[in-house]
Amino acid sequence: MRALTYEKHGDARDGVVKKVFDPRPGPGQIVVRVVAAALNPIDWKIVEGRFPFLVFPRKPFVPGWEAAGLIEAMDSRVSGFQIGEEVLVSTGPAAGAVAEKLVVSALHVANKPAGLSFEEAAAVPMAGQTALQGLRDVAGLRAGQRLLVNGAGGGVGTFAVQIGKILGAHVTAVASASKDEMLAGLGADTLLDYRKTDFTKAREEWDVVFDVVPNRSFGECSRVLSHEGVYVTSLPGAGPSFASLGVSFRAPFGFRKRCQWVMLKPRGEDLAQLVSWVEAGKLKPVVGKVVPLDQAAWALSDLSAGHATGKTVIRIA
Ligand SMILES: NC(=O)c1ccc[n+]([C@@H]2O[C@H](COP(=O)([O-])OP(=O)(O)OC[C@H]3O[C@@H](n4cnc5c(N)ncnc54)[C@H](OP(=O)(O)O)[C@@H]3O)[C@@H](O)[C@H]2O)c1
Repeated sequence: MRALTYEKHGDARDGVVKKVFDPRPGPGQIVVRVVAAALNPIDWKIVEGRFPFLVFPRKPFVPGWEAAGLIEAMDSRVSGFQIGEEVLVSTGPAAGAVAEKLVVSALHVANKPAGLSFEEAAAVPMAGQTALQGLRDVAGLRAGQRLLVNGAGGGVGTFAVQIGKILGAHVTAVASASKDEMLAGLGADTLLDYRKTDFTKAREEWDVVFDVVPNRSFGECSRVLSHEGVYVTSLPGAGPSFASLGVSFRAPFGFRKRCQWVMLKPRGEDLAQLVSWVEAGKLKPVVGKVVPLDQAAWALSDLSAGHATGKTVIRIA
């Protein structure tokens, strides 16, 4: 099969599409013939060697944590799926989705809704689950609360705006003005252009600030958080850890604001929840670009510029 491959860390543009071995299903696994795969910032961050803990799981490294396609083979112990069924999948850190075939755990597979294209389906798992888990589980977002999404126009942000509305929040979307029309269409109540307005200096308060650029700190956002407000970043690390520790020292003195982070956990039930919202017409994946496999390295480099609209999808077949 053909796949986008990297032999060493470096520029995302250095990826080569070449033949690699076909994957085989291990215990509890399914092989999917990929029709479309979506890219995420984690892909270019791994390729560039941004973090010491983000190493190539194996060589050549094939990026891509999510895809949609047809079941081609499966371990005999897998039940609930049929050969030929249309599915969407998330891979977790094993990656490998920008390829003609992909092997994944059956736990991370969901049926593709008939009304959704393969490109749209591939765009759901990573960004959709990050937004869902960040807002519902980490922030505990409730109906009637005020949510601000910083980075609303990208992969996670476009899901977060819609999931915020589904959960009953008032949603402020922070993005460049070119995305206003799209974000209003997704249900955002208020739009802020980050090139003109610094939301951390606003005279408003939010119950949840979901920072998915992520370029603001808890310290900067604390002023615009409500009394028991929570800041959730999509980039765990030393900064949020120290901020969270600082918060716990101030808690005995009545300080109720929280600093949290989301770390995506691929879960079949969350994928199924997102799919059911899609089927009900409440949630729509936003696909900004569709690029053929031969141009996947360019697309990954383009994503690394940090100004994506919705999701970037690679059409494989
Ligand atoms: N922790 C986890 O499990 C997890 C999971 C998924 C993603 N992530 C991380 O979350 C981040 C976002 O992921 P993504 O898929 O949404 O990325 P993305 O698709 O590349 O989107 C980033 C968005 O941020 C906007 N942006 C850039 N500068 C901005 C600024 N100063 N203020 C407001 N918006 C700005 C960009 O567009 P415009 O500038 O044109 O508006 C773009 O739409 C990445 O760092 C990713 O690694 C973490």
